Amino acid sequence: MTTTEKTRLDLAPFYRQDKGMTSLVSYPERCSLWGDARYRGNCDGRLFKELVLRYGARSVADPMMGSGTTRDVIAGLNQFLPEPIEYWGSDLRHGYDLATTDLPGRHDFVWIHPPYWNIIRYSDDPADLSTIETYPEFRAVLARCLRRCAAALVPGGRLAVPVGDVRRKGSYTPIVRDVLRLEPDLGELRSVIIKAQHNCRSDSFGYAAMEDVPIKHEYCVVFKRLSP
Ligand SMILES: C[S@@+](CC[C@H](N)C(=O)[O-])C[C@H]1O[C@@H](n2cnc3c(N)ncnc32)[C@H](O)[C@@H]1O
Repeated sequence: MTTTEKTRLDLAPFYRQDKGMTSLVSYPERCSLWGDARYRGNCDGRLFKELVLRYGARSVADPMMGSGTTRDVIAGLNQFLPEPIEYWGSDLRHGYDLATTDLPGRHDFVWIHPPYWNIIRYSDDPADLSTIETYPEFRAVLARCLRRCAAALVPGGRLAVPVGDVRRKGSYTPIVRDVLRLEPDLGELRSVIIKAQHNCRSDSFGYAAMEDVPIKHEYCVVFKRLSP
């Protein structure tokens, strides 16, 4: 067996579907195979991988790919598939503005992991959603971005939106509520997955003095396109 073949076999378990997956997920250790852990707000690739496999997606897009987690998952999966999954990904940091520009082509699965408003500032570009001053304005631009993603689905295709709520200076901003309210424009709501949050920067803060409980979860909302 060549070293390359051995490496491929060692990696195979990472690319198998977890058929026991439920609406509650938790990945305490980040899988280092995909994306860049140093990129703030990056996500672990396992939830994305599970959804791609569950829906049998053949064409996948991510218009806010950040450090490239989804790109790396698909490249890894493709080593084990007879026919490669097609992938398109971009980000404002590569010059692509989802608020103004359609995704190329139509896809079975679109994953969009937006900034959770201004909780992490990604750049000083005014097109960056994380620079938007007020929540109503952010909500409107996010809705425009999500509608554009839904429009890039084939009929029966899925839109997955990992998103978290924000608590800042005592006030709670329920971003997920506003994403859920975009049904039916984004398609039919099919899943709300709860994902435990681990290794947050805020873990180092003292929580005891807080009036309300700290947020330790985020969501992944999945819509299915029904219209032709
Ligand atoms: C939460 S991060 C995505 C992280 C990614 N899932 C990963 O694992 O690395 C959100 C991304 O949205 C991008 N972004 C912000 N505004 C954008 C826009 N108008 N168009 C495209 N991308 C945008 C940011 O540059 C940032 O990389």
